[in-house]
Amino acid sequence: MNLGERVRDLTRLAFQLGNNWMTLAGAALTTSSAFVLIWFWFMEITSPRQIHPYAGILLFLILPALFLIGLVLIPVGILRLRRKRRLAGEPALPLQAVDFKQPGVRRLLTVVGILTFINVSIMGTAGMKGVEYMDSNRFCGLTCHTVMSPEYTAFMDSPHSRVGCAQCHIGHGAPALVKAKISGTRQLFAVAFGTYSRPIPSPVEHLRPARETCEQCHWPQKFTDDKLIVRTKYAEDEANTPSTTVLLLKIGGHTPNGTTGIHGRHLDAMERISYVSTDRRRQDIPKVTYRDDQGQLVEYVTEDYKKLSKEKLAEAITRKMDCVDCHNRPTHAFELPDRAVDKAISKGRMSAELPFLKKKAVELLKLDYPDQKTAAAKIPVDLAEYYRTAYPEIYKHKRAQVDTAGEVVKAIYLRNVFPEMKLMWGTHPNNIGHEEAVGCFRCHDGSHTAADGRSIASDCSTCHTILAQDEKDPKVLKDLGMK
Ligand code: HEC
Ligand code: HEC
Ligand code: HEC
Ligand code: HEC
Ligand code: HEC
Repeated sequence: MNLGERVRDLTRLAFQLGNNWMTLAGAALTTSSAFVLIWFWFMEITSPRQIHPYAGILLFLILPALFLIGLVLIPVGILRLRRKRRLAGEPALPLQAVDFKQPGVRRLLTVVGILTFINVSIMGTAGMKGVEYMDSNRFCGLTCHTVMSPEYTAFMDSPHSRVGCAQCHIGHGAPALVKAKISGTRQLFAVAFGTYSRPIPSPVEHLRPARETCEQCHWPQKFTDDKLIVRTKYAEDEANTPSTTVLLLKIGGHTPNGTTGIHGRHLDAMERISYVSTDRRRQDIPKVTYRDDQGQLVEYVTEDYKKLSKEKLAEAITRKMDCVDCHNRPTHAFELPDRAVDKAISKGRMSAELPFLKKKAVELLKLDYPDQKTAAAKIPVDLAEYYRTAYPEIYKHKRAQVDTAGEVVKAIYLRNVFPEMKLMWGTHPNNIGHEEAVGCFRCHDGSHTAADGRSIASDCSTCHTILAQDEKDPKVLKDLGMK
């Protein structure tokens, strides 16, 4: 048989089998999506540009799906055609049974084999890229723009902005990945139909254990010594009077003589502390179980715990303490207006020379705005208007400072408040410290007592040495050469 005949054989067979709309549509769909996919992968290698997250959905999820649908349509079309002809009593299609004696069959099988190999390679690559893409920060943070915008914004502005979302949120291994993809699909529907909760609830119980995440980069053995904290606050008076607090925080850790301080006492090779909380945000902790140095279990409970009803107790959550019980906001840290404004002034981002700046800024930040757009438009204008009417001289001579302050206050709002997601000031309290939220005092408040009368340490020197408190010009900073 010469080449011409072989090709004719093959095409005749293909023509007979493909003579139905479904198979044709399938072939067209598969071929065209394969070309677009391959072209796109080529572009991805050769061009350094980032893919827009929505284009990503098309390229990584929809195109491969079309490719697969096309592949399925091809044989389904042939089967339907076969059935139709059988019912109509027409002569059967070729390849009723795989008959190697029939002309062209072997060749057709070879071609189908080669095509299948190519298809499997394309599907494999597409699948791998799809998973990779769905784990990327841009997909997690930007695709469902409004939904994830608070967490993404805070993340980008945190020490962890180079750590992947998936590194903290999705567990190791195939089961965790499948679980994440299933819940991810459900979430996509929730986004499409607008049924997601606002704000998104905190997912501590679904996070990877801290051993697998935090401790990969921060070894507990590395913590030792103390940490110096210098914090300046500004009063709500005309002069924005500053006062500075200096603390030596006993962050502690592992020493040759055992464990000490904040990191050492809660976390150890052995399980140290577990607790019972009665609310989902883990702010009410009526019972704490502690394994002391002798290995004895001590139960600290509050008066409230003894009064809890059976139903309440059944709903309560018991959790082993780990990093995220204190560092619940390692990357999605939302500030409160007071501290955010203090920080902006002390870092010199806006000028303390503007009278009543602290008071006015906090006031504007705390107003109710329907959405971010309105706040962004109103805050700078209102601040400028305040100085224009109350301090016309200052407005005239320090116009640039007023404008800068307006922009900084606006940025603080946009960074921390998302009315569209009902994420307002204080929606997600930060458990480090005890000034802005209950934090450490959830347990260290002096009211958690054991049967033998001991209570969880709560005097002020347990966690820090206060070197200066609310002083105008702390001497200690001069001694340290910091002023
Ligand atoms: C360093 C680890 C870490 C990284 C990286 C990280 N998260 Fe989180 N995320 C957390 C922790 C811890 C919580 C739970 C806080 C809690 O339960 O109080 C959380 C909570 C959330 C929540 C629930 C709402 C909330 O604010 O509590 C969302 C949504 C979220 N993260 C999305 C993301 C997205 C999107 C990214 C990537 C852009 C990301 N996370 C990256 C640690 C991380
Ligand atoms: C992939 C590595 C990585 C992982 C995983 C990781 N971190 Fe970090 N973390 C870093 C880096 C890098 C910094 C920044 C250090 C710096 O800026 O000096 C940092 C900084 C911090 C800081 C100091 C923040 C500050 O304001 O100075 C804390 C607290 C922290 N991480 C806690 C955590 C916790 C809790 C987890 C687990 C939920 C975690 N980290 C997971 C790499 C990581
Ligand atoms: C009992 C509460 C608590 C637990 C549990 C805890 N931390 Fe901390 N951690 C703190 C406090 C408080 C600070 C100091 C905060 C500050 O800088 O204001 C701190 C500081 C840090 C810092 C910054 C250190 C520096 O020198 O700036 C890192 C990194 C950190 N923690 C990681 C972790 C990791 C990882 C874990 C889990 C293995 C963990 N922490 C568990 C309370 C805790
Ligand atoms: C879930 C409850 C719980 C929370 C929340 C908690 N602790 Fe503790 N902490 C304990 C228990 C229990 C002990 C051990 C009992 C004791 O020494 O009083 C302890 C011990 C300590 C110690 C050692 C005290 C000593 O005398 O050696 C320090 C320091 C400490 N905690 C700091 C903190 C800081 C800082 C925070 C907040 C960032 C915090 N803890 C949050 C339960 C908690
Ligand atoms: C269980 C540990 C713990 C105990 C007990 C404790 N603190 Fe603190 N305190 C902290 C931590 C942690 C911070 C740092 C928080 C941060 O970095 O924002 C802090 C910060 C502070 C600050 C500075 C906060 C700011 O923003 O100005 C002051 C002031 C302070 N503590 C006073 C006290 C006083 C007074 C007591 C005794 C009634 C006390 N603390 C008891 C853990 C503790």
